[in-house]
Amino acid sequence: MNAAQTGPGTGRGAPLISRSGADLRYSSYDVLVIGGGIAGLTAAVGAAHRWHVGLITKGDLDETATFLAQGGIAAAIGDYDSPELHLKDTLEAGVGLCDDDAVRVLVEEGPARVQELEAMGTKFDRRDGKLILASEGAHSVPRVVRAGGDATGSVVASALAQAIYSGTRVELHENEFVIDLLVDAGRCVGALSLDRDGELTVTLARAVVLACGGAGQVFAHTTNPLVATGDGQAMAYRAGAVMRDMEFMQFHPTAFYGTENPTLLLTEALRGEGAYLRDDAGGRFMVGSHPRAELAPRDVVVRHIKRVFDRDGTDHVWLDARHLECGFLRERFPTVFNGLKARGYDLCTQLIPIAPASHYFIGGALTDTWGRTTIPGLYACGETASTGIHGANRLASNSLLEGLVFGDRTVRELNRYLSVSDPAVRKVKLDLADEPRKGNDPAVVAEKRAALALLMSDLCGIVRDRDGLQKAADEIEAMKASLAAPGLDVAELELFNLLTVAEHMVASAVMREESRGVHLRSDFPERDDEDWRRHVLLELDADTGEQKVYTIPVGQRGSAAREGS
Ligand code: SIN
Repeated sequence: MNAAQTGPGTGRGAPLISRSGADLRYSSYDVLVIGGGIAGLTAAVGAAHRWHVGLITKGDLDETATFLAQGGIAAAIGDYDSPELHLKDTLEAGVGLCDDDAVRVLVEEGPARVQELEAMGTKFDRRDGKLILASEGAHSVPRVVRAGGDATGSVVASALAQAIYSGTRVELHENEFVIDLLVDAGRCVGALSLDRDGELTVTLARAVVLACGGAGQVFAHTTNPLVATGDGQAMAYRAGAVMRDMEFMQFHPTAFYGTENPTLLLTEALRGEGAYLRDDAGGRFMVGSHPRAELAPRDVVVRHIKRVFDRDGTDHVWLDARHLECGFLRERFPTVFNGLKARGYDLCTQLIPIAPASHYFIGGALTDTWGRTTIPGLYACGETASTGIHGANRLASNSLLEGLVFGDRTVRELNRYLSVSDPAVRKVKLDLADEPRKGNDPAVVAEKRAALALLMSDLCGIVRDRDGLQKAADEIEAMKASLAAPGLDVAELELFNLLTVAEHMVASAVMREESRGVHLRSDFPERDDEDWRRHVLLELDADTGEQKVYTIPVGQRGSAAREGS
């Protein structure tokens, strides 16, 4: 019988949490999937064909970034298109930092995964019986499959959720917060979670799939749901996984300008249908700035918006769809149209104020093309993972595709791994602190979360420099020092995860002394291919408990990455 030592207290530092007198419940599965977006649902539904699967989501299934996704799924489906062309566009958008093999997998397997999703009941938009394919930035041809006009995410998520509800062998645990992974002798063997009644559950599993989404909530203006607090990245790091490219947070150019959290996304497909970007004087500033004008890659559009901000002393520009036919806009973009109406704006007749917002976290737990992280038994897919497909700037609508393709590949690898791996451990030795912890005042937790978001937007947002990043690092350190160890409280645990991920973003951004893709350093304004066709890796040093940051050339996974298990 094996005994597992838990992630929260692997001897590398103070245990993250105290048991605080809570009763422990136990459960076990072959596969534990953490996260209910497209990657997690795909992995859970697929794995359930052969294995007993538990799925834990921190909110309800409709609270994910997938559910909010508007644009669609990019796939080389059109008869004028090819995986080769999709590959070329993805590599170009990724500015020299993509893993070519991973991108090849994405574009070659994508069309079949989209067809399977449709066969499962997803109603993609069709005209005259043919899938409608939309245009988005940096795609050289129309390639984006959509559903419900601009409601792709909710339609896809609902179809996958339906598969979970209708008799798969997936046990769904919604509103349960995974605190940490359990690691035994270097192998991931389960997770510890907290439900909304304050009960702790120890879930033992032969394999764990992290699919917890991104970390947009690290920033003040974001399109990501409130639950996107970097939990997957933070717990992977604490468990000892190698993290990659944590400096790359993609900002979406066209989010509704305002203080709402999250803010309303104005899908890139609007520009794909011909909407313009304008400055205060009415000028189309993208015309002449890039051959594709408003449909330039996302990082390029954001850069030009920032230039307009600096030039005009403003903090927003305008999206203009007034020249498009109103009936078309209403039907094609119901989510945006109604979302704006609820905020007092008319897409048909008014300019819409917009500003970039954090949208997609490119960094994550390093994986190979089978979802394997550097910890045996631990898999990651979707936004939590760094497969290398996005390079330094993600191509629009490649992320839902990523969830489908790599969720599926993770299942295929699980089928292999579970046929040969050891049985699940049957006992755990939990290294939780014993003393009851009061934790932190909820008002202080909320205040620190807001302060962190402002700090990160200011000093580690669209533009960074060494002094600002150093200041951000110091302030994050001070914030951590001012907090008591967390109690058994989700808001507190989220804050600790946000601080961890913010710290990693800053440390990696300091390291990359160049500007590339979504990473803009005002003190190193040029792209430097000679020195920086490299990834920044970050991991917890098991001996010292310190964070290690180092670089490896693009195309290598580093000595830290295991070759298989
Ligand atoms: C959008 O609809 O603009 C978002 C699509 C994406 O982020 O890939």
